[in-house]
Amino acid sequence: MSSVRLLHDEKAIARRVEELAAAIADTCPRDFIIIGVLKGCFIFVADLVRELDRGGRTPLVDFMRLSSYGRKRESSGDVRLVGPLPEGIEGQTVLLVDDILDTGLSLATARELLAAAGAKEIHTCVLVDKPSRRAIDIAADFTGFTVDNGFIVGYGIDFSESHRHLPYLGVIE
Ligand code: IMP
Ligand code: MG
Repeated sequence: MSSVRLLHDEKAIARRVEELAAAIADTCPRDFIIIGVLKGCFIFVADLVRELDRGGRTPLVDFMRLSSYGRKRESSGDVRLVGPLPEGIEGQTVLLVDDILDTGLSLATARELLAAAGAKEIHTCVLVDKPSRRAIDIAADFTGFTVDNGFIVGYGIDFSESHRHLPYLGVIE
């Protein structure tokens, strides 16, 4: 059995989400569309939109799903859209939200899909950045936490579908 070591507790996450929402509110117009990449973003987006509301922002919320086939702990490098792309993207300002920025292939693929759908402006936000793992040159506009290494779980993020329920961010040991 693998155990989970605590990285950031609920309070630390809440503080960081508050800071991120303030930075996003400074950058994005009053109305924009948040598009979360499922499933790992579901708790992060839920907290982020309520923080943005407190700051007077009125974003729409939608989701898209990507799959990287053949993945266990490693990205297969073959990222595909699963299901539909959100509608009504054309001409809009989008905040693309993902749980983890690892090789960068998922975020790059999502961004390309939204650009092809006619988004006017695309900002990117990730909860956790693992810069040492990057396979392509990409950075997020807004980053919650940066980690060197290790497999992150909790706060919506899974290890083979388990651990999403943890209220904190941890690393698998
Ligand atoms: P990328 O395409 O390699 O940047 O991978 C991004 C996606 O891989 C994330 O959205 C996660 O779904 C998954 N992923 C990457 N690293 C981790 C991790 O440490 N824990 C859980 N999922 C991860
Ligand atoms: Mg993901």
